[in-house]
Amino acid sequence: MAHDNLVSAKKAQKDEFYTQYQDIQKEVNAYLEYDPNVFRGKTIFLPCDDPEWSNFTRFFAQNFEKFGLKKLISTSYAIESKEYKDGYQLTLFEKNSPEFDANKTRTNGKIFVLAHDSDNSRTVDIDDLKWHYLNGDGDFRSEEVKKLRDEADIIITNPPFSLLREFILWVLEAEKNFLIIGNFNTVITCNDIFPYIKNNKLWTGATNFNTGMYFGVPDDFEHKETYKFEKERNGKKVNRVPSICWFTNLDHGRRHQPLPLMTMAENIKYSKHKEIKGIGYYKYDNYDAIEVNYYDAIPKDYDGIMGVAITFLGKHCPEQYEIVALSRYLEDSKGMSKEFVETYYAQGNTGAISEGHPDLCYYDKDGVANVPYMRLLIKPKKEV
Ligand SMILES: C[S@@+](CC[C@H](N)C(=O)[O-])C[C@H]1O[C@@H](n2cnc3c(N)ncnc32)[C@H](O)[C@@H]1O
Repeated sequence: MAHDNLVSAKKAQKDEFYTQYQDIQKEVNAYLEYDPNVFRGKTIFLPCDDPEWSNFTRFFAQNFEKFGLKKLISTSYAIESKEYKDGYQLTLFEKNSPEFDANKTRTNGKIFVLAHDSDNSRTVDIDDLKWHYLNGDGDFRSEEVKKLRDEADIIITNPPFSLLREFILWVLEAEKNFLIIGNFNTVITCNDIFPYIKNNKLWTGATNFNTGMYFGVPDDFEHKETYKFEKERNGKKVNRVPSICWFTNLDHGRRHQPLPLMTMAENIKYSKHKEIKGIGYYKYDNYDAIEVNYYDAIPKDYDGIMGVAITFLGKHCPEQYEIVALSRYLEDSKGMSKEFVETYYAQGNTGAISEGHPDLCYYDKDGVANVPYMRLLIKPKKEV
């Protein structure tokens, strides 16, 4: 396959990675533990979720009564509009339904609604799902789907990876509660999403994301050149995607647990990190803050600004620290000095920096010029 085709095949396939049931259950349990009524009386909207494939629809339909939902709406995207069309098969569910329309099956999206007991079974469950074709293809950006978004209280899904930024902005625009899966780096580095993170309007979910997540992949997923197929779970192919996590504005207990930390003196004496023990912390050369390369080495008695790894966000407790900025978007950085840049290159480094470059930089105790990877700048919330 030509390189360009490989790249687009990879992108298209990633848009068809399906979330596993147990991952949804684990994450949702964290919100219920924090507030057992979090979903009570609520309308949940699952865009990008065909119940024939989606565990989101199955999970919320199965728990409809337990969670006290008012309504569950799920929409799917038409096969003809998808980038990745391989391996598509019309299901018996659709074909045997009185709603089936051979002209619409490939071009129209579908809407599935669960609201009450329609089969007199005395329970509201997945058998009560009613469906019909949408007028359009189910694109989340269409007016038809936007209307459903506006009717909902909570929007939940794993959206197409390639449209993540656009999808999150679409959700934020509606000012609803949400629970969404997405790539951590993409979200944190978007300059139009970052202000929501900074202002505590969007945070990471409860599941720890340092190991990535496994997703179900299409049955014909065989492009070994693009993805290394990893393993099967319950007879289904799954593939690991690194740096992926949940983003939400629903509260969960983990984000209110402050990090247990030591003082600066204790860190210098006892830290398990050789870069800190017996050494201490470096001040940036171009910004009034200290570099803290490990979240567990944050000195609890330092009351100024600190630069920490962006993955700190997964440990962030808003009562403990305030997020000040992302090093990429620093407005008050002096920029790198001519001297720093010259030293950096004289020491054999090959990174692309120049005088005035806004990224943070510092000299270590041996005079080595360092440019750490992007940092989150934080400062303590209260007196410590
Ligand atoms: C990453 S998959 C996840 C599917 C499902 N939400 C899940 O977690 O199992 C994203 C889904 O969104 C669909 N999709 C792609 N572009 C879309 C769009 N513009 N509007 C709505 N859905 C879209 C894809 O075809 C795919 O089925």
